[in-house]
Amino acid sequence: MASILYTLGAVNSKISRFLFVACLVVLFFAASINYLYSQENGDCLECHTDPSKVDVKVRVDHVTGEVEIVSMLVDEDAFHSSAHGGEDFYCIDCHADLEESEGEHNPNLQPVDCITFCNDDPGAEFLEGSHVKLMKENDVQPPTCKYCHAGVKSKRDVPKADDLYHRKDTIDKCGGCHEEFYYSYRNNLHGQVTALGHVDTDIATCVDCHGQHTILNSSDSESTLGADNVIETCSVCHPGANDNFVKHVAHPKYKNIAYYKSVFGAVKDIRKDPERISGIVKSPQMIITILFVVYVGILVMTFSGFGMHSVLTWLSTILDERKGKESKHDKR
Ligand code: HEC
Ligand code: HEC
Ligand code: HEC
Ligand code: HEC
Ligand code: HEC
Ligand code: HEC
Repeated sequence: MASILYTLGAVNSKISRFLFVACLVVLFFAASINYLYSQENGDCLECHTDPSKVDVKVRVDHVTGEVEIVSMLVDEDAFHSSAHGGEDFYCIDCHADLEESEGEHNPNLQPVDCITFCNDDPGAEFLEGSHVKLMKENDVQPPTCKYCHAGVKSKRDVPKADDLYHRKDTIDKCGGCHEEFYYSYRNNLHGQVTALGHVDTDIATCVDCHGQHTILNSSDSESTLGADNVIETCSVCHPGANDNFVKHVAHPKYKNIAYYKSVFGAVKDIRKDPERISGIVKSPQMIITILFVVYVGILVMTFSGFGMHSVLTWLSTILDERKGKESKHDKR
C-alpha cells in the first residue's frame, strides 16, 4: 500500500503526501499492537526462548499458596511434544489476558483457566463425574486439572497419556489421597514392577484398572472393575482373562500394619460388632495373610533352628579346646 501511495506521491500532490505519512503511522501502530495480539506463536517465542529477554520469576501458586521459582523460558521441544503442542494450539488461546502496555504485555497474567479452555468433554466429565461426587460427599476438595496434569518443568507442558513421567506421577497423585491402597498396590506384582521404574502402558497403574475421571467403587456394576466390566478391563493386558482370573487380589494387605491394626480392632470389638470380624475372616485377604504368616513363621523357625544349632556346636568346640589345653597344662 505504501508503495502505491509513493507512486501517487510522485504526482506531487500534497494530499497524497499527507496520506503517505498517515499510512506509515497507522502501519507502525498496527504492527506494534499486532505484535502481541498476533496469532503466531513465534511472536511470543521470540522473547520466551531468549534468556536475555526473559528470566526467572517468583510466583505464588494460586491454589496451594506455595511460593515457586519459575523460569519464563519456554522449552519449545517440551511444548511441542506436550498434549497441547500441536499445530492448532495458540499461546493466546490459553493466555487470554495479554493487555499491552508500552510494547510489553502485562507482566502478571491470570493463571490459565483449564476448565474454560478445555470446555469439551474431559473437564465436564471430571467435574460432574462420580469421583468428584465421592470426594464432595467426603468433604474433600477436588484437585485441579493442573494438579494431575502438570508437566515436568512447567505446568504448561501437559504430558500425553502414555508419557512415562505422567504415568508414574499419576500413581503418586492417586496414592497421595488413597495411602492404604497405594501401599497394598505396592505388594502386588503390578505395583512392584512400576516401583522398579517400568511404568509403560503395558503394566497397570491405578487408572488402567479404575478408570480416569469417572471412578466408581468396584462393587458398582458400572465401575471398570464391576462384575460386568472387570474381565474386559483386565483383558487389555491379559488376553484370555476369565471369571477365575479376575478373582486375583489386586490390593493384598498382608504386609501393611494398617491391616493388622484393623484385624485386632475387630477382634477387640467382637461382642459389639460381630459382623466386622466375620467380614474380615471371609475376605480372601485373610487367606493370603495366613499363608504369609505361616510362611514367615516357617522361615523364622528353620533359620533360628539352624542358627541355634550352629552357635551351640561352635560353643562346644571352644569348650573342648579350652578343656584340652587345661589337661595338657596339668600333665607338665
Ligand atoms: C517483549 C518480550 C515478550 C514478548 C513478545 C512476550 N512476552 Fe511474555 N513475558 C515477558 C517477560 C519479560 C515476562 C516476565 C514478567 C515478569 O517477570 O513479571 C513474561 C511473562 C509471561 C508469562 C508469565 C506471567 C506470570 O504472571 O507468570 C506468560 C504466561 C507470558 N509471558 C506469555 C506470553 C505470550 C502468550 C506471549 C505472546 C502473545 C508473550 N508472552 C510475548 C516478555 C515477553
Ligand atoms: C493449553 C494451554 C496453553 C498453551 C497453548 C500455552 N500455555 Fe503457557 N501456560 C499454560 C499454563 C497452564 C501455565 C502454568 C501457569 C498457570 O497456571 O497459569 C502456563 C505458563 C506459561 C508461562 C510461565 C512459566 C511457567 O512455566 O509457568 C509462560 C512464559 C508461558 N506459559 C508461555 C507460553 C507460550 C509462549 C506459549 C505458546 C508457544 C504458551 N504458553 C502456550 C497454558 C498454556
Ligand atoms: C485426580 C487426577 C486428575 C484430575 C484432577 C484431572 N484429570 Fe484428566 N486425566 C487423569 C488421568 C490419570 C488421565 C488418563 C491419562 C491421560 O490421558 O493423561 C486423564 C485424562 C485426561 C484427558 C485425556 C482424555 C482422553 O480420553 O484421552 C483430558 C483431555 C483430561 N484428562 C483433562 C482434564 C481436565 C480438563 C481436568 C480438570 C477439569 C482434569 N483432566 C482433571 C487424571 C486427572
Ligand atoms: C484429592 C484427593 C484424591 C485424589 C487425588 C484421588 N482421589 Fe480417589 N477418592 C477421593 C475421595 C475423598 C473418595 C471418596 C471415598 C474415599 O475416601 O475412599 C475417592 C474415591 C475413590 C474410589 C472409590 C472408593 C469408594 O470408597 O467408593 C476409587 C476407586 C478411587 N477414588 C481411586 C482413585 C484413583 C485411581 C485416583 C487417581 C487417578 C484417585 N482416586 C485420586 C480422593 C481422591
Ligand atoms: C490390577 C488392577 C488394579 C490396580 C493397578 C489398582 N487397583 Fe485399586 N482396586 C482394584 C480392585 C480389583 C479393587 C477391589 C477389591 C479390593 O479392594 O482389593 C480395588 C480397590 C480399590 C479401592 C477401594 C474402593 C473400591 O473401589 O473397591 C481404592 C480406593 C483403590 N483400589 C485405589 C487404587 C489406587 C490409588 C491404585 C494405584 C496406587 C490402585 N487402586 C491400583 C484393582 C486395581
Ligand atoms: C495395563 C496392563 C495391565 C492391566 C490392565 C492388568 N494387568 Fe495384570 N499384569 C500386567 C503385567 C505386565 C504383569 C506382569 C508380567 C506378566 O504377566 O508376565 C501382570 C501380572 C498379573 C498377575 C500375575 C502376577 C501376580 O501377582 O500373581 C496377575 C494375577 C494379574 N496381573 C492380574 C490382573 C487382573 C485381575 C487385572 C484386572 C483387574 C489386571 N491384572 C490388569 C499388566 C496388566
